Amino acid sequence: MKKLYFGTNLKMYKNIQETTAYLKDLVNLTMDISRDEIELFVIPSYTSLSNAITCVDRDYIKLGSQNMCWEEEGQYTGEISPLMLKEMNLDLVMIGHSERRHIFGETDATENKKVKCALEHNFTTLLCIGETLEEKNYGISNEVLRTQLKVGFHDVKPEHVSNIWVAYEPVWAIGVNGLPAAVDYVEEKHQVIKKCLIELFGEVANKIPVLYGGSVNPSNANELIIQPSIDGLFTGRSAWQAVAFNKLIRDAKQAHELNH
Ligand code: PGA
Repeated sequence: MKKLYFGTNLKMYKNIQETTAYLKDLVNLTMDISRDEIELFVIPSYTSLSNAITCVDRDYIKLGSQNMCWEEEGQYTGEISPLMLKEMNLDLVMIGHSERRHIFGETDATENKKVKCALEHNFTTLLCIGETLEEKNYGISNEVLRTQLKVGFHDVKPEHVSNIWVAYEPVWAIGVNGLPAAVDYVEEKHQVIKKCLIELFGEVANKIPVLYGGSVNPSNANELIIQPSIDGLFTGRSAWQAVAFNKLIRDAKQAHELNH
């Protein structure tokens, strides 16, 4: 049975105290689920990270950062260096979340610099991709996804493939104004993504987990996770209460077991 990935990005929510309480609850609630079967990760705010790392056993929950600069040091006011994240012993770095691309103007070329830097510093590197509603309506979603992958992973060395994760998050499906994507549509896009990853890296790319994110919730999670090309769920709002996230994970895992 394939390993299932479950993660959440806490965005600009939860202060230090709320983050540590959430993480402690999530570890306790999910402890009995074998980590050979699931990979669980949480991406808190930068200011919560130093407390987060002291209260979580990383065998249970991997911790990541929401962004990272592509340089180790320099005149980059407001940025966080890979060395600073290494110093905190973080497991993973997320690159190119839709809010970084669309609110803060990051381009595929910027994401590529960050991806290469994160991989060179041995972080698990989660590249987020996804088309806008306009691009979907023009019928160019596949081209957009392929471009984001081809530029985002340009010049990435094949030996780094084992540290790559991808999240497909259609921009129109994310957040409070998001419309949940149809399951068939998501599966089709995951197939496009997996095919493109194989073109880029060869058969070894079959090992890259491709997660789905965007309005994942208790009523669509099970249908999504049973799809053959969906390896995990990257959940926002529906994961921010530990009890609810624990239930979503257990229900999805059970649905997957019943279907495989
Ligand atoms: P959402 O967020 O589940 O609240 O739509 C998803 C994301 O931004 O990763």
